[in-house]
Amino acid sequence: MKDVVIRRAEISDIPEVVEIEECSFDVPWPDFLFKAHLSNPGFLVYENGWILGYVIVGTSEDRSVSHLQSIAVRSDCRRQGIASKLLEWCIDLAKLYGFSKMVLEVREKNIDAQSFYLDNGFQVEGRIEGYYHDDNAIVMGKNLI
Ligand SMILES: CC(C)(COP(=O)(O)OP(=O)(O)OC[C@H]1O[C@@H](n2cnc3c(N)ncnc32)[C@H](O)[C@@H]1OP(=O)(O)O)[C@@H](O)C(=O)NCCC(=O)NCCS
Repeated sequence: MKDVVIRRAEISDIPEVVEIEECSFDVPWPDFLFKAHLSNPGFLVYENGWILGYVIVGTSEDRSVSHLQSIAVRSDCRRQGIASKLLEWCIDLAKLYGFSKMVLEVREKNIDAQSFYLDNGFQVEGRIEGYYHDDNAIVMGKNLI
């Protein structure tokens, strides 16, 4: 097995990222959305020869805070700390860019992901009714300073 690296996503990673996406979400992002993020320094992958997980962090619309847009890990590699490592890296990146806060929305029904974020120091900050076509969003945030 090759060494683990966390690095910026490249075009050749997209098929594996899409495979993880399709196994992780009922409404997966199509590959062109991932390709559009290749210029984003906050699109990171975790690999050991294979891509095991990815994260995308950007900014809020008004650019006041960093915004976690997506994170997923291969279903057979979960509960091994991979997403926590990816999150740690994107938090370091957000700090490097001078952000003092990270926010995200998560489906109200996605209790597992909410547990993951709580375990990683995020707090519930609100709830947006009808944010997704079939679910509400829980808004979570974490201070980075
Ligand atoms: C959420 C997700 C990214 C977590 O990835 P992961 O690599 O398994 O997470 P970690 O191993 O770093 O988990 C760290 C901690 O978070 C919590 N946690 C993670 N997954 C959990 C789950 N399914 N149920 C309850 N708590 C969970 C636990 O406290 C865990 O620590 P522990 O394993 O020592 O108990 C992964 O389950 C996933 O890809 N889910 C599908 C996609 C998704 O829902 N993404 C979030 C969209 S907002």
